[in-house]
Amino acid sequence: MVSFRSLAFALVLSTGCETASETPPAERTVIPDDSVLQGVIDENPAPDAIDITLEARPGEIQYGENRPSTVWTYNGQIPGPFVEAKVGDTLTVRFTNRLPEPTTIHWHGIRLPAAMDGTLAMQDPIQPGETFVYSFTFKDAGLYWYHPHIRSDIQVQKGLYGAILVRAKDEPAVDQEKVLVLDDVRLKPDGSLSEFLDDEAKMMGREGNTLLVNGIESATLRTWPGALVRLRLVNVANGRFFNLRIPGVTLRVIGTDGGLIFRPYETDTLLMSPGERYDVLFKAPAQATTLPIYNEPYERGHDSGHAEQTTVAELVVEGEPSTGTIPQTSAEIERLTVAGAATVPIRLSEKFNEEGKLLFMINEEVHPDVPMVHAMSGETKVLELDNQSDMDHPFHLHGFFFQVLARNGEPEPQDALANKDTIIVPGRQKLTLAARLDEPGMWMYHCHILEHAEGGMMGELEVAP
Ligand code: C2O
Ligand code: CU
Repeated sequence: MVSFRSLAFALVLSTGCETASETPPAERTVIPDDSVLQGVIDENPAPDAIDITLEARPGEIQYGENRPSTVWTYNGQIPGPFVEAKVGDTLTVRFTNRLPEPTTIHWHGIRLPAAMDGTLAMQDPIQPGETFVYSFTFKDAGLYWYHPHIRSDIQVQKGLYGAILVRAKDEPAVDQEKVLVLDDVRLKPDGSLSEFLDDEAKMMGREGNTLLVNGIESATLRTWPGALVRLRLVNVANGRFFNLRIPGVTLRVIGTDGGLIFRPYETDTLLMSPGERYDVLFKAPAQATTLPIYNEPYERGHDSGHAEQTTVAELVVEGEPSTGTIPQTSAEIERLTVAGAATVPIRLSEKFNEEGKLLFMINEEVHPDVPMVHAMSGETKVLELDNQSDMDHPFHLHGFFFQVLARNGEPEPQDALANKDTIIVPGRQKLTLAARLDEPGMWMYHCHILEHAEGGMMGELEVAP
């Protein structure tokens, strides 16, 4: 058993830094972050092909000063191997299940053939000892992630997740880029992961007592005065919404789930539900300093907004200053047209059944009884999300991006155009989305609070060829 920090260090050394998540300018010596993601060896020398081997297996990791926790890992790492690719690359993953139970891998947000999507609607569970080969070609630049799609509430919280960064030909010029995978774990006093779901965890989704950035508690992010920093963030937590703030630092949001957005905007707090990704730029303070990265309370229903402010990580600003200005970015996003498109009502609700069990429902049914949605390949549908519950639900659609048409009937401003695959549907509110369903197969849609998805808030969409 080695501590996670020394393990991470050893693996970074042994795999080189081809896929490290941070690329400082060559002449600058930067003390390595202890939060840099670990890459994986590309076994294919061809420039447009990435072949990797993944294994899901149990392991032990030590969080902070706690006793070692028993976890599940991809290749012994949490997060699993970080994959960096470019649009047009084909990723082939030879995956072997060494867990004591069946699993699959879902490639969250990536537009791919349905047979590669890792859901039980399209493939058999990968049994312990079995190998399955996933292979697909990246169509869109952006930050994506992968995780199991069987008992995901258990398997993801035990550590099975990883990030995939797909680059476009021209990316904004910045001084530093960091990929941050946000998670939390609930540790018992003896350091073991708590699997017990109390009533609150069943209701709200499990929230941990230990916040992790790239698998590390109390991570340190290093930059220098005036640096232009690009953060690529993904929230992989089961139930926690992150609401990030760096005091005195304005964040410029330039992208989200499906890549760059049409019109960047500035914000002091960045709210991210489970499954969502954000791409932000900021300029580091001009003077050397150390700043907390706070997670601010956010009211997502049932009085959850009374939580305390916590610190996710620290930003250490030191060294030679640089003077850059934030680059202008904008994406060409094709606006979906919905004239004549059919509407799909998706009502989200919760209730206690006669036995006192809390049910999470779509159109008044619990998965797998939620009536299937049918579409023809190439068809654009309008999804009418109606959250009839008192809490937010992050809605996720597999296989396709969607665009927001309206919120509570109010048309979305034209400038807010973005390709999303996961979005917060606030409690008691309505969201109207458009999606072009241009890939045949069976697809899932669900709440990305994993306890809700596994508790029934999940449906299937059949796209006929
Ligand atoms: Cu990230 Cu169906 O999930
Ligand atoms: Cu939910």
